[in-house]
Amino acid sequence: MYDESFIGQNIDIAAALLKKGEAVAIPTETVYGLAANALNPKAVAKIFHIKQRPTFDPLIIHLPSFDAISDYVYEVPSEFKLLAEKFTPGPITFLLKKKEIINDLVTAGSLYVAVRIPAHPVTLALLNNIDFPLAAPSANPFGYISPTTAKHVADQLGNKVYYILDGGPCDVGLESTIVGMDENGKIEILRKGGLSVENIISVVGNVSVREISSSNPEAPGMLSTHYAPTIPVILGDLSSCTLGADPDRTGILTFRNFLPHISTKHQVVLSPSGNFMDAARNLFSGLRYLDTCPIDVIYAELLPETDLGIAINDRLRRASYKTKS
Ligand code: TXA
Ligand code: MG
Repeated sequence: MYDESFIGQNIDIAAALLKKGEAVAIPTETVYGLAANALNPKAVAKIFHIKQRPTFDPLIIHLPSFDAISDYVYEVPSEFKLLAEKFTPGPITFLLKKKEIINDLVTAGSLYVAVRIPAHPVTLALLNNIDFPLAAPSANPFGYISPTTAKHVADQLGNKVYYILDGGPCDVGLESTIVGMDENGKIEILRKGGLSVENIISVVGNVSVREISSSNPEAPGMLSTHYAPTIPVILGDLSSCTLGADPDRTGILTFRNFLPHISTKHQVVLSPSGNFMDAARNLFSGLRYLDTCPIDVIYAELLPETDLGIAINDRLRRASYKTKS
């Protein structure tokens, strides 16, 4: 069990611990992160240890403003500048050629580092209080669902971190969209996330989108099984696939409507009004809730493949992947 005194809103405590080389959980608009000084390899190593994360999976560094990135990366493509003007601070991460100052542990040996400017007032204030970037993956044990509240972090990592900086529930609820440049100088989306593909296209025109692959060495960590609850998740048309199911031992995750024949206490409706932003905000807490229910299986339906439905479906597919052989 964790001691709740380690959850708080004190930016000075968080800054002091980070300066000492400790790991601290921080709020962002996407999901909570497990942060440490990105320029201190010993501090970064603590992140991997606490998360039980393999060191081949690189970390995103977080900065207070896009202007600050020139200390850490070489040339910034003009398309990235356009995207940054429009969408930062916000749920977008840029892959850029790293300078020497960024340790190989952060990038898992890659020449590129992932950089993002989070749009959360508490964490922006924290970043302005320290003189180093924060390396921060999502604050969940490796492979599990990302946390969107301080309590989610405490539930799983509470006995492993000194402090959880509480910034309330995350506004976006999905991890950032990661963009890189392909070999033809075209923007490539490496992870679908909290900034929609349509939004990115509206600024830079056509982009390519990398699909799930089980082990793509160019995109370490973008694994097919991820964001997964402990209870198996099965995707499908809910009215037919739940027909033979035990109504008391079945969990349901739907977009807009309850299913009539299943116990409502085991059902999560993401957005009764069909709003994608609400659905994104509720997705991970909904999956976490169902994972605590006394049920044998979670049936989930995919959302329309548009807007944030694209990233939500990506997470649902990864959550369900291990139920397919
Ligand atoms: O919204 C977010 O991005 C959150 C918050 C805390 O900022 N962070 C997050 O980090 O989702 P994480 O570590 O859970 O996911 C980052 C993903 C991983 O799949 C990792 O492999 C990929 O980004 N990544 C990080 N650096 C990379 C790099 N240099 N090259 C390729 N992929 C990279
Ligand atoms: Mg993660």
